[in-house]
Amino acid sequence: MSERFELATIGEIVAGNARAAEVFEEFGIDFCCGGRRSLAEACQRAAVDQGAVVRALEGVARPRPAQDGDDAARWPLDRLIDHIVEMHHGYVRRALPVIARRLERLEQSHGERHRELARVVNLFRELGIELTQHMMKEEQVLFPYIRELVELEQQGCEVHQSPFGTVENPIRMMEREHREMADALRTIRELTGGYDVPADGCITYELSMADLARFERDLHRHVHLENNVLFPAATALEQQRGEAEEA
Ligand SMILES: [Fe+2]
Ligand SMILES: [Fe+2]
Repeated sequence: MSERFELATIGEIVAGNARAAEVFEEFGIDFCCGGRRSLAEACQRAAVDQGAVVRALEGVARPRPAQDGDDAARWPLDRLIDHIVEMHHGYVRRALPVIARRLERLEQSHGERHRELARVVNLFRELGIELTQHMMKEEQVLFPYIRELVELEQQGCEVHQSPFGTVENPIRMMEREHREMADALRTIRELTGGYDVPADGCITYELSMADLARFERDLHRHVHLENNVLFPAATALEQQRGEAEEA
């Protein structure tokens, strides 16, 4: 295996090159919640040929014109938080009601012949409630605390006692919720045969499946930026500030 990928985790590979996310998606490798796994371990879990994955990763290693957010893994944490809230939380808030309404219409017209749609509608509705609460916790509790850590670092000040002990506590909770939400979307993907439009599917069917596929893709990138970039950096920053206090 190429040495470049041998020692890195899946999350680190995507943090180093945003296009690696497309490769992992293509091979069904979980790069957000499973971001701490090595490439070998992840390939084994997804039952895919590691050599083929490495060749595909090498293929996307070539530079291409930069897109917004590609280098988010190297941004200061406050800018990264702005990006997550504006791009990902913003998208989720806009997309949730549109997709939910369209799925309900789809179920009304095709539910007789496609029984799985009733479950898809319910799973998506529950996911919407969970995700809305989850983003609120991040925006009202966790992200403001991380912004405070960034400010303390800039001012060279020590860390205050946070209301939740250490930042690792809310992070653990957010990571667990990420896993649950990714699992719900995986179930939706499986129920729809990989967002497949059946032969008797109409335009609403096509739009709904395309919406769901885009929603899942966005959630993977969103969770990747939190689990593999923001959270480890916030943990390290809190530890540094704690040490500054002891010194
Ligand atoms: Fe988030
Ligand atoms: Fe999150």
